[in-house]
Amino acid sequence: MKKIQVNDITLAYERFGSGAPLMLIHGFPLDHTIWDRASDLLKNDFDLILPDLRGFGQSTTVETSYTMTDMADDLAGLLDHLGLEKAALAGHSMGGYVALAFAKKYPHRVSGLGLVASQAAADTPDRKANRYKDADAVVQKGVGLIADGMTPKLSADAGVQTYVHSLMERQTPSAVMGALKAMAEREDQLFHLSSVSFPVVLIHGDTDALIPVERAREIKAVLPSARLVELLDTGHMPMMESPKGTAESLKLLIG
Ligand code: MLT
Repeated sequence: MKKIQVNDITLAYERFGSGAPLMLIHGFPLDHTIWDRASDLLKNDFDLILPDLRGFGQSTTVETSYTMTDMADDLAGLLDHLGLEKAALAGHSMGGYVALAFAKKYPHRVSGLGLVASQAAADTPDRKANRYKDADAVVQKGVGLIADGMTPKLSADAGVQTYVHSLMERQTPSAVMGALKAMAEREDQLFHLSSVSFPVVLIHGDTDALIPVERAREIKAVLPSARLVELLDTGHMPMMESPKGTAESLKLLIG
């Protein structure tokens, strides 16, 4: 992977394809390789930029706490490095939270927004408390605990489960803890999203057990111009479970 220094971290990324710039942002606690199947179907239409978010994959993190906006700042630094003023952003789950933080801080740099199995709502008090419990448990027992707990909720597909479980186990405790706390503290973006002027595409599996499809429908309710694509027999990993449907839906970002 290519690497740059930005905001005290090393950010690793891949870039390939040709067309309009589209950044594909992975979810928690994964890396850019979750997009492999979908990016193969997108590379003839887009200049694809695939970062590993801070701490994940081949990117490094800092030991201090950070926010979704800090992660968005890393991506703004990557666009600066690539000489791109604007790009479309598509974020999977936590990657969607980062994309939303980016869109709030840098709306002039966003040509379109894709939220894949994501949401604009903040955590409920219970969910937030559980994130902090999980962060403590990671210190005591390691990242395997998160991998074991999350994997069955991500997909019913055995091949997808095997892949994501091994990917999660390779992530470091500090990245997992940092991201858990950043997710717990993220703000609700529903109100802000209701007034954006760039195209928004919502891609959600109908059997997503981690973020129910209702979360995407509530975005559509406040932003009627958003395109909502509900993928059948698809869970929390649409880009792996339904790569064709995911790729075709992301192409809506360029009309
Ligand atoms: C993800 O899939 O990125 C996260 O699990 C989302 C979340 O926990 O809110």
